[in-house]
Formats: sequence, structure tokens, C-alpha cells
Amino acid sequence: MRITFRFIAALVLAASMVVAISTYFQIRSEKDKLRQDLDRRGAILAGRFEEVDSAALSAPNRRKLERVVGKYGGREGLIALAVYDAGGNSLASFPATAPELDWARPLVHSALGSAAPASKMLETRHLYAVPIRSDGQILGVLTIIRDASFIQARLWEMGWHNFFRLLLHALLISLVSLLIIRWNILAPIDQMARWMKQIRAGETVDILSAPGGILAPLASEANQLVRSLASARAAAEEEARLRQRAQSLWTAERLKEYVKEKLGGRPLFVVANREPYMHVRQGKKIQVIVPASGLVTGIEPILRACGGMWIGHGAGDADRETVDEHDRIAVPPDEPQYTLKRVWLSSEEEAGYYYGFSNEGLWPLCHIAHTRPIFREEDWRHYQAANEKFAEALAEELRGTEEPCVLVQDYHFALLPRLIKQRRPDARVALFWHIPWPNPEAFGICPWQRELLDGMLGADLVGFHIQFHCNNFLETVDRTLESRIDWERFAVQRRGHMTLVKPLPISIAFPDPAVPLKDLPDKGRLLQNLGVKAPILGVGVDRVDYTKGIVERFRAIERFLERYPVYAGRVVFVELGAPSRTRIKRYQDHMTEVELEAERINQKFKGKDYRPIVLLNTHHSHAEIEPFYRAADFCMVTSLADGMNLVAKEFVASRADESGVLILSRFTGAAWEMRDAVIVNPYDTGRTADAIRAAIEMAPEEQTRRMANLRGRLKEQNIYFWAARLIEELTAIRLPASRSS
Ligand code: G6P
Repeated sequence: MRITFRFIAALVLAASMVVAISTYFQIRSEKDKLRQDLDRRGAILAGRFEEVDSAALSAPNRRKLERVVGKYGGREGLIALAVYDAGGNSLASFPATAPELDWARPLVHSALGSAAPASKMLETRHLYAVPIRSDGQILGVLTIIRDASFIQARLWEMGWHNFFRLLLHALLISLVSLLIIRWNILAPIDQMARWMKQIRAGETVDILSAPGGILAPLASEANQLVRSLASARAAAEEEARLRQRAQSLWTAERLKEYVKEKLGGRPLFVVANREPYMHVRQGKKIQVIVPASGLVTGIEPILRACGGMWIGHGAGDADRETVDEHDRIAVPPDEPQYTLKRVWLSSEEEAGYYYGFSNEGLWPLCHIAHTRPIFREEDWRHYQAANEKFAEALAEELRGTEEPCVLVQDYHFALLPRLIKQRRPDARVALFWHIPWPNPEAFGICPWQRELLDGMLGADLVGFHIQFHCNNFLETVDRTLESRIDWERFAVQRRGHMTLVKPLPISIAFPDPAVPLKDLPDKGRLLQNLGVKAPILGVGVDRVDYTKGIVERFRAIERFLERYPVYAGRVVFVELGAPSRTRIKRYQDHMTEVELEAERINQKFKGKDYRPIVLLNTHHSHAEIEPFYRAADFCMVTSLADGMNLVAKEFVASRADESGVLILSRFTGAAWEMRDAVIVNPYDTGRTADAIRAAIEMAPEEQTRRMANLRGRLKEQNIYFWAARLIEELTAIRLPASRSS
């Protein structure tokens, strides 16, 4: 309240000063104006004395002069009127005597001396003396004395008027300020204080209910704090609970401590082609997007928890503008936790290394989804050069860190482990392959299979999602390179170096139970926004990639509606398909195929406010996808081949209500763990159609049983558990003594 008072007092003081200064000038100018007016009236009266000539001033005509003076002297407001000769002697006056006539004496001389009118204010009298001329000669002086007390009265009136105006202003200013302060500052502060009190008291509070307006920036910071506080609280509570149970779940906090201990405080380095935050231009603005990538979904929470550095390709068109002179940027942008270092590639390098060798060569080679791999020599050269470039960028960052720990990600960097070891023999290097590894015959068609395997075996640890891929890899090495395979320990010995090969099924960060859930999304509203109506919702979330079986999924939906026509008009399937690798023709053709297929099926079953497939082929943020996961009756993951597929896990993680059914392709890594999903072969359209029906008609208790099992496992085998296992394996490896020096 004191601050409010001071604020208002300052405002009123400022307003008073403005009014006082303006009143002062106003009074001064009014006074001058009134006085000039009196001067003017004096001059007019002097004009009336034209009839007074030299003769009139002579002694014989004095009577006439006195008459004239008497005639004008009696006018209202005139106190005295007198005529003097050129020597300053009084000739006639009205009244005969008045003290003011003596006051005016100096003016008479001044008017005679300067041959110009002279005037003066004396108390409430206005004295005016003007020479009387005839034929250019000064005959004498006329003196006019007026009562000017009205000027004083007028100025007082003006002063009072302004004073009352000031009072009114002060009142209005105080009132308006009070209201503004109350509505826009005090009320939000009050609301925020209550909100913080609730949080301090441990009540679950909707973080979005923080005040907006003037405190919005503060509120957003406070929201971040609340989130951190909530997770810290949850982690502590979880730890306490688990300590009691003598076992413990892996949390971000626990991983952080674990990694700190295992790496002795040294930072963790991750190299992955796809960066976790991309700066892209949207008109004149720069926007940050999180790319659609299972790799990013899995790995990012680890760096958030442990800190460290992610080295990735700067692929966003505004990426260069946002980094420092070392090409680094602290991320996540709104709550920095680790460093992203961007490596730049020319469009030629990108075309050869990323689009060409990685995604037209290795991707179809490893996925066996009936798209023929293309191996171009030029692409291979770019792939080698890009691996060298990343090795250099990493080596620069590793300088000063002894025995650094490097986690290399995916098929873009098969050569990188060896290149790192050449530069830093003391480094511990793990390579995690996020996509499947095919059988030796399939891999054998790659012209550079020996070089790729040799590069990979530079790593101390090579990880795949499932045992089946580990087996395929070891068999491929066995058939291709001279080496010793230790089938007992699952390791490769080559040129005195050992590489362990391990199945490590990747996962996601299971949502923190302490973070309050937003309200359950309204299914009807979600569909209404898409221009359709139906009581049952299915959802699919993918990069539009030919390995994801999107066309097969649509055909299964078509077959389902044909077989069970009662569901036509009642089931809508929403496909959130993010465009991917769109510079590759196969991907362009696939996108067209997906669109045409959706269109064809929609034509067949569409009705008023209804089409069975809603295809949303644009990038969606996690916040946009989440409501669909939560509102869906079933989710379809029908990849023809997939290393893991984290969409399946994200769907399960978002179902805190323990309902909804996951339909999952048996060709995903996820299917090896998620046995409570409805497992399908996406090539088998008829059975997949039946699986959709089974999912829709599944009893709620059965849904809950399955979902609870899926969630229970996912909660334990989360991404922190995965990272801890990886770090544990990697740090347990003994580096040869000579290398660690
Ligand atoms: C797969 C790969 C990732 C890749 C992601 C998205 O999940 O294993 O390495 O990041 O697809 O593909 P993109 O080419 O856009 O990075």
C-alpha cells in the first residue's frame, strides 16, 4: 500500500508542478494582455483630444480645455485625467486633485522626453501618459489614470480556477492509478503469491493457471521453476519410496548422479547426425523445432539429465545465425542444460552423405522393406568425408578431456568409431545402431561392407535394440572380416582390439507422475476441428517413410470397413505424418502414394461430416500429438521393418488412464518387449483388419490389464535405465594401459 501511495503521490506532484508552471505563464500572459488593453484604451481616448490644439492650451482658452477634460474625466473606470503643457506644467485636471496625479508625474516627463506614450502599473492603478501633437509638434501631455483593480481580480480568479482543475486532475489520476495498479499489478501478484503458496504447500497446481499480463514473463519463469521443483520433489519421493523397497527405478536425477560417478565428472559426448533443436525461418521470425526422430526422442532426455555435448549436423536454415563463434548453442533454448555443437555441410556434402549413402544406401539396405538400395561411389566418398569432418569437430571438443566417453549414434557414422580411436586412443567409444541389422546375405550386397564393418569395430561397444540384430551383425562380421568372434561374450577381437556387441532396447523418458496432467482432450472436439464426426478414434504417428507401412495400414482400415460395415461412419483414423527426407524421389513418390491411397479409401466410405482417414502430413510438435495419443481408442504402428519404434512407447506412456489399445507390427524392435500389444503382420491386410476390430471391441478390463502391464514395464525400462546400462558397459571395458596414457 505504501508503494501505491508513493506512486500516486509522485504522479500528483508531477501533475501539480505542470499545472503550477503553466498557471504562472498563463497569469503572466493574461496580465500583459490586460495591461496592453488598458494602453490601447488610453491611446483611443488620447485620439479624442484632437480638438485640443495649441490655441486650446493657451491661457485664454483654459476653460475650454477644462471642459474637455471634465467631459472625458468623468467616465467610468477613470480615476483622473490631466493635461500638461510642453514644460510639464499642469493645465487642467479632473478631479482637481488626486494623489495618483503625483504618481504619474515621472511618466509625464518620460512621455515628453521620448515623444512617445509611457505607461505603468502602480498597485491597482494604470497610469498612462501620451504626448499631444499638432502639426508634428508636441504641445503637451495627456495623463490618464484608470482603476485596474479588475486585473488583480481576474488573475485571482484564474489562479483559483487552475487550482480546482488541479484538484480534479489529482483525484482522477489517483483513482485511475489505483485501479490500474489494483487490476494489473496487485491482483496478479496476489494471485501469483497464492499460487506459489499452494505449490510450496505441495498442492498439485495446474501450472498453466499462473497469472498473465504484466507478470507473464515472470510467470513463465516461475512455471519452469515449478516444473523443476515438481520433478525434483517427485525424484526425491520416488527415491525415498524405492529406497524403502530396496530397489530403485531409474530417474533423470539418478542417472545424473550415476554418470557423474562413472565418468568422474567428465562430460558426456554424443555424436548424432540429427540435431535435437533446429532453428528454422518462418517468414521473418526464427522458430525452434524438435525434429521428428526416434533418435532425438530417446537420446535427448539423457543429455538433459546429465549435461554434456551433442554434436550434430546444423541442418536448419537459421542454424548458423543462432550459434556462437565455436558453432555452439546452449539447449533446450528455454531451459539450457547441455551444449549443442553444429557441424556444417555443403549441400553437395549433404546430398552425398545424408540423402545419398545414408538414406538411399544404408537405410533400405538395413530395413529390407523392398526398396532397392542405391550405392553411388560419389555418395560413398561424401560419406567418408563427412565422417572425417565430424571426427575433427569432435576431436577439437575432446581436447583437454582425458579418457572421454563418446556415444556415436546410428548408421550415418559407421566409420566414426575408428576415426575417433585414431585421434584419441584413450577414448571410450560406443556406437548405437538405431535401425535393424539385416542378415549377412542382405548386407553383403553393399560394395563397402568391409570398410563399414572395420569402422564400426573401432568402437569398444556396438549396441542394437534386440538380440536378433546382434546375431545378424556378428554373423556378418564373421563372414566378411578376418576376426575372432567370441560367441560366449558376444564380442569381436580384431587387430588386438575387442568390441562388445550388446542388445540394448532403447526407450523413452516415462512421464514424471508429479507433473500434473492437462485435462483429458475432448475426442469430439479434436475430430470436429478436423471436420469429421465419429465416436471411435484411431491414431498413427510417423515420419512418412516407406518402412512405416502407412499404405498397408490404410488398406487394413479399408478391409476392416468392408468386413465390418457397421463401423463405417463410426471410426476415424487420424494419421499424423511428418514429411521426411523429401529431397529423395522414393520419399516423394511414397508421400504421393500415401495421399492417393487415403483419398481412394475416403471416396469409398465418405459421408456427411465423415471420412475414415484424416491425413495430416505436416510436422507436429509433441504437444500437438499428445492430445491424439490420449484421446485415441487405438494406436497403429505397422512398420514393415523398424529398429525399435518409439511411437509405440510414447502412446503407452501417454495413457495414464490405462485404456486404449496398441496395434503393433511384429517387425518392430518394440514388438519383442511389448507383448501386451495386439501384434500384427502388416502385410496381412485381413488379419490386421480383424486386429482393428478386436482392439475396438476389447473389454475395458482387458484394455486396462494390457495397458497396465505395458506401462509397468516401460516405467522401469525407461531411457534412463537404457543410458545407465550403456554407460555401465562402456565404463567397465578396460582400455589397454598404453592407450589410456
Ligand atoms: C530414424 C533414424 C534416426 C533419424 C530418424 C529421423 O529413427 O534411426 O537416426 O534421426 O529416423 O530421420 P532423419 O533422416 O530425419 O534424421
